[in-house]
Formats: sequence, C-alpha cells, structure tokens
Amino acid sequence: MNRTHYCNDVRAAHIGQRVSLAGWVHRRRDHGGVIFVDLRDRTGLVQVVFSPEREAAVHRQAHELRSEYVIEVSGEVSPRPRETENPNLATGMIEINVDQLIIRNTSKPLPFQLDDDEVGEAVRLQYRYLDLRTPKMQKNLQFRHRANQRVRRMLDEAGFLEIETPMLTRSTPEGARDYLVPSRVNPGQFYALPQSPQLFKQLLMISGYDRYFQIVRCFRDEDLRADRQPEFTQLDLEMSFVGPEDVMSLTERVVADLFKGTLGIDIPLPIPRMTYAVAMERYGLDAPDVRIPMELKDITNIMAQTGFKVFADQVRRDEQGRTRGIIKVLRVPGGGTRLSRKQIDDYTGFVAVYGAKGLAWIKVNGPWQEEGWQSPIVKHFSTAEKEAIQEITGARAGDLLFFGADTVKIVNESLGRLRVRLARDLNLFEDQPFSLVWVTDFPLLDWDAEAKRPVSVHHPFTAPVEEDLPLLNSTDVFDLLRVRSRAYDLVLNGIEVGGGSIRIHDPAMQKQILSLLNIGAEEAERKFGFLLQALEFGAPPHGGLALGMDRLMALMMGSESIRDVIAFPKTQKAGCALTQAPSEVDELQLRELHLRRTLRSKETSG
Ligand code: AMO
Ligand code: AMP
Repeated sequence: MNRTHYCNDVRAAHIGQRVSLAGWVHRRRDHGGVIFVDLRDRTGLVQVVFSPEREAAVHRQAHELRSEYVIEVSGEVSPRPRETENPNLATGMIEINVDQLIIRNTSKPLPFQLDDDEVGEAVRLQYRYLDLRTPKMQKNLQFRHRANQRVRRMLDEAGFLEIETPMLTRSTPEGARDYLVPSRVNPGQFYALPQSPQLFKQLLMISGYDRYFQIVRCFRDEDLRADRQPEFTQLDLEMSFVGPEDVMSLTERVVADLFKGTLGIDIPLPIPRMTYAVAMERYGLDAPDVRIPMELKDITNIMAQTGFKVFADQVRRDEQGRTRGIIKVLRVPGGGTRLSRKQIDDYTGFVAVYGAKGLAWIKVNGPWQEEGWQSPIVKHFSTAEKEAIQEITGARAGDLLFFGADTVKIVNESLGRLRVRLARDLNLFEDQPFSLVWVTDFPLLDWDAEAKRPVSVHHPFTAPVEEDLPLLNSTDVFDLLRVRSRAYDLVLNGIEVGGGSIRIHDPAMQKQILSLLNIGAEEAERKFGFLLQALEFGAPPHGGLALGMDRLMALMMGSESIRDVIAFPKTQKAGCALTQAPSEVDELQLRELHLRRTLRSKETSG
C-alpha cells in the first residue's frame, strides 16, 4: 500500500478518488455495526470508516483496532452523510470508506490521554515521544522548522555564510558556569561546551569571512526558569565593517521576514529604539514591555525637602551632591477601585523579593484638596509635594499610586517588576500581540559588590562608546559605571530575545578593558590569548548579535515556556526526564577519563 496523501490533505475535491493513508488510530467509535476511526498523522485527522457491507473481512479486522495502533488503509473518499459533517475539522466534510487495512503495529494503552489538559508536565516529559504526538507540539515543532528555513534563506540572500564552530572548546565568558567535558587523551584536562560561539565568530571576521551566521546550540549551567534552558539555540551572526545601526537593521529585516513568512504578520520597521537610560528611567527594567501603558516617574527632586522620614533618608545629598537613592512613583489606572487592601499587602511582599523595604501607596478617591487621597503616608506630604505629585502622575479618581524609595537598583527593579505584574493581574496590556523594541547604549560595566570589581554587562569584547572613552581612565567607580557600550538588545513583549554589540578590534583597547575587569595579563593570556593574538593580525571592525531562538519561537507561538518549542527539553533540575540524563557512569569510563568519584552516590548519601 503506497501512501498517496497525508490525513489532513484529503478534501471534498478528492470525492470519488481512491486514497491510501498511514498513521495512528486516534479514536475508534462503533456505531450500529459501523466502525469509525479518526486516523492521525503529523498533519492532522481524517475519519476512516469500516462498514460490514463494504468488505466484511476488513470490517472484522477493524474490531481489533485500539488507540495508537499503527495502520495503513486504502479506500474511496466520499462525502459524509448530511448532518454528520464536522465544520471544526479541515477534513470534516469527507470520510474514507476503507476496503483495505494493514495493522502495522499495536500499542499498549498510553500512560496518559494525549488530549487530556490535566496531565502534569513531568509525565509528559517522561514520555515526551508521546507528548510530541499532540497537535500542539506538532504545530510548534513544524513552526520552528519553517522559521529556521526562513531565516536561513533570508541570511543566505543577504550574503551570510553558515559556518559551524566547535562544541568541544574552551570556556567562553558569557557569565554563566560552563559544562565541562573531560579529555581522555589529555589526562586531567577538560573541554568546555560553548556558552556561545562568540570568540569563534570574531575569529571568522578576522579571517575575512565578512558575514557569518549559525543556528547553534549553546550551553550554560545556570539556574533554570521558564525562559531558560541549559542548552538552547541561538541564531548567531557577525558582520565586518559595520556599526550598531547596520547590525540592528539587518536583524530587523530577518525578524520582519520571519513574522511575515510564518505568521503573516507585518512588523513595522524600523523597530523603535530606546536607550538603556530611558528604559530604566521609564520602565525600571532593561527589557521593557512597552505594551503596558504605565510609566515610572522619578520624584527624587520633588521630595528633596520632604518631612516623610522614609523618603528623606533616600534623597539627602552628600558633599558631592549625590543622594543615597531615588524615589519613583507608579500610577495604576483604576488600581484604587480594583485593588483590595489585601492585594496591596501582597504586592508589598512581591516587591520585597527585589529588596524593597516597603511599598507606600495612595488611593486616589478624589482631588487631594478635598481629602480625596487615602493613604498612611500622605499626612507627611506638604502642599507643594502633593501638587507636584498630582502634576507628574496625572492621577485621577479611581487610581492608585505606588511609591518606591531606595537605591536606584532596588527602586527600578521592584517597581519595574511590579508594573509588569500589575499589568498581568489587571489586564492592562495594549491590544497588540507583538511589540518589539531595541534597547541601546547599555552601560559597559556593572559593579560586582561581592568581588568589589567591575564586570562586563554584555561580555568583555564589547566596544565602549567613543565619547565615553575618557571616563575609562577615571579612578572613580561612579565614572566607570557611566561608560556606555555599543551594545543593543532586542526585546519582544518585555522579554530579551536577542543581544549583541560592536566588538573591540584594537588589541590595546581589548587589553585595557580586560585589565579594568581585573583580569590580569597572565589570566587574559591564558583565557583569551588566542583572541588577543588574532587581534594583532589585521582585525577588521566588526559586530554582531545573537537571537534566542527558543524564546522567539515560544513568544511567536504564544507559549508560556520555551520547553513547548523544544523537542526534548530539560526539566527545572536540568535533567532529561526521558533518558534520565545526567546519570552515573561506569568505573571503566571514569578510569579511561582519568577521573575518580569522590562524591557519594545518591543511594549511599540517602
Ligand atoms: P546573550 O548572552 O545575550 O548574547 O545571548 C543571546 C540570546 O540568547 C538567549 N538566551 C537563552 N535562551 C534560553 N536559555 C538560556 N539559558 C539563554 N541564555 C541566553 C536570549 C539572549 O538574548 N555572544 C553573545 C551575542 C553577541 O554578542 O553577538 C550572546 O551570547 O534570548
Ligand atoms: P512606615 O512609616 O515604615 O510604617 O511606612 C509607611 C509606609 O511606607 C508603608 O506603607 C511602607 O510600606 C512604606 N515604605 C516603607 N519603606 C519604604 C520604601 N523604602 N519605599 C517605599 N515605601 C516604603
């Protein structure tokens, strides 16, 4: 029996034709001697019918069919009898009258019903090959395939070369822990799986390949969340003789083509750009969700003389005129009427996670002049302060104002996250399924309070903004942290889907940055000596970016988790529920790798 069609391809136009199909028994129903089977393959379902009048032997055989049996059938396409059509199914107008059946395999009853929404993810991941039979996973993985092909074609047309880079390599500094692989032939030595192809793609630019891309697996040993996996896929690219604008506009074209080609959605170009400083000022986060019509307002200056001690402590200025912290306010439209005291208390708990010591609030029932502001703190505010707060927030009756007073970092993070949380809880999103924004001019350095040294915000190969170079020589940490970088992130619906930068191509500058990061000459040589050396042999100016394909696919498919767009994802504990990886290995394997186990195994340590 040679398959002539996929299940979901049979239509009314085929009525009267013979077709041969192959697939799985999705469901079997018996109706007055006639057996109906929904036959399923990767495209969808079609109804096949076994009736005793047609072919008695085949009909008898059909009695043996159970869910998930693998069968091949042949028969004639006919219209479904009137009133039995199913408009919800693409093949719902027709059925196949089967006269030939081959049962290719049986199936045990499944550990869960494919279409049961109540089944936990743990079981689904353990039997992932069954879960992958569901329409949702079929749709997601087929979508991902199409997206990959689209991207490849687009980049090929734009002159990019797809070049593979090693998986067994040295540590790449993307800020996470490495997965290490012991070397058998080099006792005591380890490869690191790449956190990204960063250094290799820079080397390819030095080699003159000009435009490189790769759809590539990256490995990072970090704590997992819904949008993080220990191995994930980047669309990685690098270009020579470019500035930030070139990389951003190329990326925009790729992303727009992807949306158009897969979802039929037009992404207006250029994608809006926003500096990091503005993102932090207005949204408190470097990955702002701009669909939420609420912004943070800085009232540090308004509160400079305030009598409210909690606020006053933050805004008092030292000899250099610097304050300890800042004060910001977030107006929640309708929050006054829609949020209970209990909810406000819950949000206080929510911001505490980000270090906030409290969450002051004002419930706006009417104008403050008419005692319309209900709040435990408003009694401390002067008339001028109330006027200024009214002015800057534009508060209206029914609103709620939330205040944060603390260090810049704590205020921005706590109110920034609260803004997103409130938008979810109160459904305050603008009606726009996909909203993209570039965040540019990230700071070059951040301060690692524990290690008491600056660390790269992006990675150590990111070029500083020319204008800010003089600040690099300052001995004041405050100045160093003001140096901007030529880095940019692409943000979709408040999630970072990509990031990149223009790189340093001057070896002297690269050495200076490494030494600023407290990476001594010896350590630099050991870790990135090959790159520093390569920079000495005619490195062109270059830059690039990587898109997180898992995140992008999940967002495009409306999935909450990137696990939904990965065929065989890892669990929260970085394990594979299906294969039970990671696992212990044989003594012999360890010996060959020159390793000895000193950890007690799970069983013995209980
Ligand atoms: P970056 O570290 O920003 O940049 O990574 C690029 C994008 O990859 C995605 N991503 C992840 N997705 C799933 N799970 C993870 N654990 C994970 N980590 C990152 C994010 C992120 O925006 N070499 C640079 C790129 C460059 O400079 O060209 C890099 O790797 O969507
Ligand atoms: P208190 O005077 O400490 O009782 O605080 C009065 C109000 O201010 C309470 O609603 C606290 O949640 C809030 N609050 C306390 N500390 C802060 C802070 N650092 N930022 C914002 N609100 C605060």
